[in-house]
Amino acid sequence: MARALVFVGFMGAGKSSAARDAAARLGTEPLDADEAIERDAGMSIAALFERDGEAAFREREERVVLELLDAAAEGQPVALGGGALGSARVRDALRSHTVALLEVSEETAWRRAQGGNRPLAQDRDRFAALWAERQDAYEDAADAFLVEGGRGAVVRALPALQQLATAGDGVRMAWATSTGGDYPVWFGAWPDAQGDDVLITDDQVAAAVLGERLVEVPRLTFAAGEEQKTLATAEALWRALASRGATRRTRVVAVGGGVVGDIAGFVAASYQRGIGVVHVPTTIVAQVDSAYGGKTGVDLPEGKNYVGAFHQPQAVHVLHDVLATLPEAERAAGYAEVVKTALIAGGPLWERVRSGVPVDEQTVLACARTKLRVVAADERDGGLRQILNLGHTVGHAIETVTGYARYRHGEAVALGLLAALRLSGLDDLREEVGGLLAEAGLPTRMDAEIDAARVAAATRSDKKRVGEDTPFVLVRAPGDVVFGQHVAAPDLLGAVQELSA
Ligand SMILES: NC(=O)c1ccc[n+]([C@@H]2O[C@H](COP(=O)([O-])OP(=O)(O)OC[C@H]3O[C@@H](n4cnc5c(N)ncnc54)[C@H](O)[C@@H]3O)[C@@H](O)[C@H]2O)c1
Repeated sequence: MARALVFVGFMGAGKSSAARDAAARLGTEPLDADEAIERDAGMSIAALFERDGEAAFREREERVVLELLDAAAEGQPVALGGGALGSARVRDALRSHTVALLEVSEETAWRRAQGGNRPLAQDRDRFAALWAERQDAYEDAADAFLVEGGRGAVVRALPALQQLATAGDGVRMAWATSTGGDYPVWFGAWPDAQGDDVLITDDQVAAAVLGERLVEVPRLTFAAGEEQKTLATAEALWRALASRGATRRTRVVAVGGGVVGDIAGFVAASYQRGIGVVHVPTTIVAQVDSAYGGKTGVDLPEGKNYVGAFHQPQAVHVLHDVLATLPEAERAAGYAEVVKTALIAGGPLWERVRSGVPVDEQTVLACARTKLRVVAADERDGGLRQILNLGHTVGHAIETVTGYARYRHGEAVALGLLAALRLSGLDDLREEVGGLLAEAGLPTRMDAEIDAARVAAATRSDKKRVGEDTPFVLVRAPGDVVFGQHVAAPDLLGAVQELSA
């Protein structure tokens, strides 16, 4: 049977236009389930609903969709209606096709659908409930996730969507969009080596993860650890690239945690004014957060990540297996970023994380998609992206005061999250998050000898500072996080002092 390219998603996600745009690019005709149902019934869907009711409509929809999937040619774009995945037979049939989920927030969906004649878009509460109810079915069926974005994204994603058809079982892809460039994030597939690749990694990753993998790619290795995230390391790498004769066609393959990703990304951003980089994140921190969004850089003694550049990768490859060798303490440090992301996302991701399940592929995928959504809306930190800094203002200050040597980044973020939740006035949530962090082996208290006043003062060297004030990211509730919040100095000091109490 032919493998069609099927667009699914909620009402207003743009499935019909996606199938049309993709078909136009491929020089073929799109198939549209809603149009096929209207042809089959000889009337509009609204009239059909009115005459027969929803149950009869769903029966007809199931039959027509199954026929359509059967009839589709290899790679032919097909748009399904928002409710089609309610049928188990349709969900089953979709397993033999490439399914692309067009993500759309409930707010955007409502803006687009309200006021029309869609039978299920007449009442806002019902609409919102339906949106929430259907997400699981979409996500389970999806091979690809297209973050809500400009219409052109579908056409730009087409080669990656086509590649998915032959990528092998279980490989999934999320399409990242930003003004700085779009790229695929592959889950479950290593990058194919290209002739001009140079691999950058650290010595621990080289030993624990790489082994014989990608041996054909020339390798530049530096010593592991945040202390190495310096201009000196970047210079050594620039010079190693130059002495190897690397050109603007060279592609850096960065295999490692956030330190490797940040340095290798920065080296790629600046070598001969910019060459390509592909990330293969090997820590939880990197898989849920740092590999996406194009922030690269190094630390200065004066402040973390003080020198760097925005440089979007050409692709990211997320492999769950590589986490198997991750030391327990690094796993815990990564968990702090998972909790942060879940607080930002709210909804099912927060419910999943608060239930205490270990970080698995599903959690990593959900965290990555959360980050991609935020970056798509604001690549350069002008606004929304600042919410990703939840827990980081105090976290970075703790790292700065302790010379990046006492705590891992994620450990400092764990402490920072607790301070942020206190400043948010959410005592119960602080308690709950403290429990999750402690369970994962993260610190919930700061060493007594660390001077709280110095930590509070160090928040003023945060890059987000505006004048004398460093804006904070605060939580109103899981899923409702606000940036740019003023915090009074005594409150900040109190929240930091509490950490060492
Ligand atoms: N660019 C961004 O958007 C962004 C976001 C968050 C964090 N960061 C940065 O990320 C850095 C922290 O990243 P990290 O926590 O991944 O630290 P890391 O890169 O230092 O990795 C932690 C340790 O684990 C080792 N390691 C990595 N993968 C392994 C594996 N699979 N098996 C065995 N050992 C492995 C590393 O060699 C290292 O010793 C910080 O510098 C932080 O500023 C950047």
